[in-house]
Amino acid sequence: MKLCIIGTGYVGLVSGTCFADLGNDVICVDKDLNKIEKLKNGIIPIYEPGLEELVKKNFKSKRLNFSTSLIDSVSQSDIVFICVGTPTKKKNNVADLNQIFNVAKKIRNSISRFKIIITKSTVPVTTGDKIEKILLRKKQKKLFSVVSNPEFLREGEAIRDFLYPDRVIIGTKDNKTNKILKNLYSPLISKGAKYINTSRRAAELIKYASNAFLATKITFINEIANLCEKIDIDVEDISIGIGLDKRIGGRFLRPGPAYGGSCFPKDTRAIVNMAKQFKTNLSLIKSVIRSNENRSNIMLNRLSKILKNKFKNKLICFLGVTFKANTDDMRESSSLKMMPFLSKKGSKINYFDPTGKKTEFNKLKNVSYVKNIKIALKNVDLVIIHTEWNDFKSLNFKTLIKKKNFIIYDMRNLYSPAKMKKDKIKYFGVGR
Ligand code: UGA
Repeated sequence: MKLCIIGTGYVGLVSGTCFADLGNDVICVDKDLNKIEKLKNGIIPIYEPGLEELVKKNFKSKRLNFSTSLIDSVSQSDIVFICVGTPTKKKNNVADLNQIFNVAKKIRNSISRFKIIITKSTVPVTTGDKIEKILLRKKQKKLFSVVSNPEFLREGEAIRDFLYPDRVIIGTKDNKTNKILKNLYSPLISKGAKYINTSRRAAELIKYASNAFLATKITFINEIANLCEKIDIDVEDISIGIGLDKRIGGRFLRPGPAYGGSCFPKDTRAIVNMAKQFKTNLSLIKSVIRSNENRSNIMLNRLSKILKNKFKNKLICFLGVTFKANTDDMRESSSLKMMPFLSKKGSKINYFDPTGKKTEFNKLKNVSYVKNIKIALKNVDLVIIHTEWNDFKSLNFKTLIKKKNFIIYDMRNLYSPAKMKKDKIKYFGVGR
């Protein structure tokens, strides 16, 4: 199959590369010439384990190509995936669809034979209907089919999530289109992915509802963790105890700092606002958003108690600052709230992150990036384990930290409280 992927962000670049690896001819298009030139030279604009090798391999074999010419690339292709960004509009929290509609307007001039136009970006319900209208404006005959095929990949696990998905959702009621797409995805279906054909609007909503549900699950365990801290129960036992019920499931029950990233915060806000347009109140999701927005305050209150409100001149080391491990993404990371708070209170902060220095903290007083975990930890009063990188899972704090009576606040519950107690280390986790 000849595929054209428009937008080389997370979803576009990973999907395009994996489709090429599955044997398709793929052209990835982006209007950013610099990005396209870099990709042709094997330089990947995002941090994603395994992606560089896969891009290089498929570019070399000529199954994967890069271009800035949208019109030519669409003309040569049978299937076009729209993977451009859908950021939230600041003034009303609604998804900004300008990039999607601009692409649709450009595509309509390049359709001279039947093509399938797919939205892979997360788009509000009825976006497919609007794209269809834009495309129909120039066409007498309907030479295209507009489909919703949402992507469920996670940053840091993107290749595995793409190649081994739980399900492939195809939103179209057109039989011919469905047959072609089932064939495109057949390598994944034969490895166990469930193929679901549904309406376009349902496919669009499945993506938002999935992210909202996962955000709810995390928020639920975060609130249960708050309770556990008050009554001397380890929340990890609760996650296991409830997660073994197959109706609940054990994943996404890890408590931590607020959920962040480019998806959950954006998509929970977007689904609430989308529902409002259809006069529906999603009160549960609204409450999840509020709870998550308050999560950093709860963590910082606990920290105040741990430090007995004495922040001034305390040397604090942050291990990891991104919104989660295996990514360099800082979007909506809880460290963006915690670090300025601690800097204002007069603490001195060292931070280490496997993905390097972050410009977001450049202007903060007494905050320095340290290249090496050993040096970052050397003389600290307090360690905050903020993300769950493997690099942080087996540290020997007693030999690394030269000060006596240091404290560990493990926001990801990476260590065993019993072992810490045995080693006489002052240790605090989440919900324990
Ligand atoms: C999320 C979804 O998991 C993907 O399925 C979806 O495709 C993607 O959004 C998207 O819409 O594009 P992602 O944002 O990459 O993926 O990251 P997750 O691994 O889901 O983590 C999101 C946030 O939840 C992170 O801050 C993470 O630390 C937090 N989290 C996750 C927890 O606090 N506890 C958990 O048990 C799981």
